[in-house]
Amino acid sequence: MRKPFIIANWKMNKNVDEALNFLDDILGALPDSEKEDVGIAPQAFAIYPMMQLTRTIPLQIIGQNAAAKCNGAYTGEISVRDLAAMGVNYVMLGHAERRSIFKESNQIINQKILTALREGVSPIVCTNGDQKTVTKLGHCYDVFSQLDHVLSGVPVEQVHKIIFSFEPTAAIGTGNHADLETAEHGCLLLRQEIQRIYGPKIAEQIRILYGGSVNPKNVGLIMAAPDIDGVLIGRASLNAQNFVQMINYQQTTLARVM
Ligand code: PGA
Repeated sequence: MRKPFIIANWKMNKNVDEALNFLDDILGALPDSEKEDVGIAPQAFAIYPMMQLTRTIPLQIIGQNAAAKCNGAYTGEISVRDLAAMGVNYVMLGHAERRSIFKESNQIINQKILTALREGVSPIVCTNGDQKTVTKLGHCYDVFSQLDHVLSGVPVEQVHKIIFSFEPTAAIGTGNHADLETAEHGCLLLRQEIQRIYGPKIAEQIRILYGGSVNPKNVGLIMAAPDIDGVLIGRASLNAQNFVQMINYQQTTLARVM
């Protein structure tokens, strides 16, 4: 059984005061940590104060990005080693915005993944493609070639530490989430590709998240899809009330069924 993982990706939003106020609003409403993982990826400067407040609370504070190098003359970069020193367990790598705006290549994302694994931080590897490609062709070549490249040199003993996400480009930040069939199909194809590279046992264990315009209304349906193990939520996660609703999707779904 793969444990669901619901992650807020705040992108370049919320200062430290806003981030801490948000924690105040949600900490009393976290779901049962045996049944679900919850995480927030704030801006880098908010990680430390948020970690201080959540040391004993089952809420993952997640890096949005980190460099391929751990220290040295790399002005403006974030060291995954220092994230690890703060107790951070996860870092997002290769988000669509890192690829398109900051021109990160598969090669650099691959180096970042290898560094994060070496430093003991689990990468959340984002793959993205055109959702039309997924539906029309039944394949998503962009995603698959990304996967082959970014996983280069990741040994089979390490790959279970990685979480993957499938994010159709047209669904990110647009308010138009992928239709359910496309979201499930993309995640299933991703799992099949992981199976091709690492075998069925690993593919069965790996958590795959869907990202792209998830909101309180669609989260329950998306989470019910068999190959979707979690969601990466951008815009809709900025509001604490929305986020509380989304992390408690299991209760809401149950209430609807009953
Ligand atoms: P969105 O962002 O929910 O605003 O579409 C998702 C993401 O970029 O991970």
